Amino acid sequence: MAQNWTPTSWRQKPISQVPDFPDASVLAATEAQLATYPPLVFAGEARNLKKALANVSEGRGFLLQGGDCAESFAEHGADTIRDFFRAFLQMAVVLTFGAQQPVVKVGRIAGQFAKPRSSNIERQGDTELASYRGDIINGIDFTPESRIPNPERQIMAYRQSAATLNLLRAFAMGGYANLDNVHQWMLGFVKDSPQAERYRKLADRISETMDFMKAIGITPETNPSLRETDFFTSHEALLLGYEQALTRVDSTSGDWYATSGHMIWIGDRTRQPDHAHVEYCRGIKNPIGLKCGPSMTADGLIELIDILNPANEAGRLTLICRFGHDKVAEHLPRLIRAVQREGKKVVWSCDPMHGNTITLNSYKTRPFERILSEVESFFQIHRAEGTHPGGIHIEMTGNDVTECTGGARALSGADLGDRYHTHCDPRLNADQALELAFLLAERMKGGRDEKRMLVNGWA
Ligand code: TRP
Ligand code: MN
Repeated sequence: MAQNWTPTSWRQKPISQVPDFPDASVLAATEAQLATYPPLVFAGEARNLKKALANVSEGRGFLLQGGDCAESFAEHGADTIRDFFRAFLQMAVVLTFGAQQPVVKVGRIAGQFAKPRSSNIERQGDTELASYRGDIINGIDFTPESRIPNPERQIMAYRQSAATLNLLRAFAMGGYANLDNVHQWMLGFVKDSPQAERYRKLADRISETMDFMKAIGITPETNPSLRETDFFTSHEALLLGYEQALTRVDSTSGDWYATSGHMIWIGDRTRQPDHAHVEYCRGIKNPIGLKCGPSMTADGLIELIDILNPANEAGRLTLICRFGHDKVAEHLPRLIRAVQREGKKVVWSCDPMHGNTITLNSYKTRPFERILSEVESFFQIHRAEGTHPGGIHIEMTGNDVTECTGGARALSGADLGDRYHTHCDPRLNADQALELAFLLAERMKGGRDEKRMLVNGWA
């Protein structure tokens, strides 16, 4: 176990992004109550995810991580969850087929409620209020009452996470994710979707493969891997009191695990090596994500890797890079080289969302072409460095929102007002998410053909 670490040792460290709870005793009582509740996920599942990520770090597989920027209490319908899961499965199947590699499926869901903010204050006209910090902390309504941090919200977030996870488990294991349904996942598509035809063609090929396999006796009934999928949950471990309350000892190994989600990550704003968030994360055994923005230095990264993954265990650490389409070429190569030089085992993942946010017609938005451009650069740079572009981390929804501009439907700044529903950052809609998956599949296929040519001595 990590030296001198306990689930509470983070409380001795400096911490940023903490809400101003008006009453410490109410907060403590809520955390004590949460600590008596059942875990949301199990240590064995987190270990399975770590094994899958270990394969990705060694070049065998691809991590697909995505979901809302922030989940909300107001939008907790079965349809929203199903639509998300359906869009996610479509992406996964496109990637699996395109890359001919296993896709590790991790949602930003069932716990993604706490948001770091660049300012403690939000100003509207002449009024200043405390910033919204996510539904687990305060309310999004611009009123003084709503913005007061309320510990009761942690109980709500826990219960919503449990219900969401329950439905996701049912979808993943109960038949919905059966590859025989590959055409049915299209049903939610708007008729004129530019991706529909492309997806239908791919689904036809999968159905044909399934028919062939059935003919030779390999069916979803006899082969669970055709009818089930492993779907994992993740969120930013920002609200450490909540995380601590759900930190439990795994009885089989004696190790500590965060049981609020399978994977948790450290944000770019809270990754100071001697601060609370890094302290908490170093002691739990789950797979960990670390967001890396332009201010991450090579030495700083190696220092963090040594703290978070001292045994250099494959699958433990995923570096989620978020530089911006115009900065990735400046920052990614130096980090890759430092990691290679030190022989550190990591999964390299690309978050093409957070470095590409702009304001247009007073909406926070992200141009789709910049998102694609950062992904393209990410792939090119990894090919040039001889490393594996291991994954993608995106903010997306299964619904037909208008939050990011561009894409095959060419959403403009003027369209943003139509269906701008996000509680925080702009998300890819289902169409844009699928378009991105097709692009990724092509890039990954390119890498595969290249590798095969090298192996066969054709290049
Ligand atoms: N079990 C395999 C996997 O998860 C195959 C699979 C079943 C699958 N249902 C799926 C793949 C849905 C993608 C999407 O990879
Ligand atoms: Mn975000």
